[in-house]
Amino acid sequence: MHQYRIPNTDLQVSRLALGTMHWGGEWNLEPVTGQAIDRGQALMEAALECGINHLDLADIYTFGKSDQVVGEVLKIRPDLRDAFIMQQKCGIVMAGDPAYGPPQRYDLSYEHIVSCVDESLERIRTQHLDLLALHRPDPLVEPAEVARAFDDLHRAGKVRWFGVSNHSAGQIELLRQHVDQPLVVNQLEVSLLHHHLISDGLLVNTGTDDQPATTGLLDYCRRHHVMIQAWSPLAGGRLSENPDLGGTVTALADQHGVSAEAIALAWLLRHPAGIQPVVGTRSVDRLRACAQADSVELSRREWFQLLEASRGQVVP
Ligand SMILES: NC(=O)c1ccc[n+]([C@@H]2O[C@H](COP(=O)([O-])OP(=O)(O)OC[C@H]3O[C@@H](n4cnc5c(N)ncnc54)[C@H](OP(=O)(O)O)[C@@H]3O)[C@@H](O)[C@H]2O)c1
Repeated sequence: MHQYRIPNTDLQVSRLALGTMHWGGEWNLEPVTGQAIDRGQALMEAALECGINHLDLADIYTFGKSDQVVGEVLKIRPDLRDAFIMQQKCGIVMAGDPAYGPPQRYDLSYEHIVSCVDESLERIRTQHLDLLALHRPDPLVEPAEVARAFDDLHRAGKVRWFGVSNHSAGQIELLRQHVDQPLVVNQLEVSLLHHHLISDGLLVNTGTDDQPATTGLLDYCRRHHVMIQAWSPLAGGRLSENPDLGGTVTALADQHGVSAEAIALAWLLRHPAGIQPVVGTRSVDRLRACAQADSVELSRREWFQLLEASRGQVVP
């Protein structure tokens, strides 16, 4: 699989990343099962076979059990640690997590960021994270505290590079005023069903009353060399809920001789911003189907055909 260099870093990552949100079983405190560990190991091994070397984690996934699965796999296969770029996310506090309780909230305080990293390192059984992203913007964020947390984590050798997720251009700018390290990724929801990041730019000067929240964000990330990672790039399996879109994807898959997943992901890969889809499948077969996207180069015509099918209307 072709790779991207994450701008401003020494990280060479595959064009697709593998997400771990569904690893570890249910979102509860039941112990991690051997079956979940076996599945995690099979996925990590299959990912490497496909050329996928980037793993996306978050401290909250299945209340930490997803991290634990990775840690158990690394206990069995310690050689896999350095085969992957390990990216962690922190900053969401889940209401259902008995360690915290309600309400659901965000916490980008110094203490929360640092303790999340320490706890994750222990669960994952690793000495360092290659990348740490702030999972969601916290309205109570003190950017100077974030900067202090990043400095301490970096100095201690616990985190190499930093980024954000679900952040607007203004929120990134605010952080950049205080944080010394470059913010190298912004992980955002993007798919053929949820394409606002890409399509909002079409609405400029069209008389649309509301300024969509993502207007300008894509261009901001390109200008400032922030790599965009697309979460839920297959819309969690819901692409065919839009029959026109499902039909167009299937027809193009047949024409190109690849899976439907490959076409949906190739639509993201075709964008010149260098978007990295983070796929969330727990099936080795679907992961292989996703990896076929690397060999598909959609024409401009095909790309707009998919956009039109998704939007249900021609471009303005
Ligand atoms: N930063 C954030 O706020 C944020 C939020 C959400 C997710 N993420 C990251 O993004 C990753 C991917 O998210 P995601 O899991 O929503 O992505 P996704 O790849 O769009 O969806 C994967 C899910 O959809 C199912 N699926 C895919 N295609 C299907 C089909 N044709 N038919 C039936 N089911 C299908 C998969 O089932 P199978 O397992 O059976 O294949 C799996 O449950 C996560 O693991 C996480 O790392 C980040």
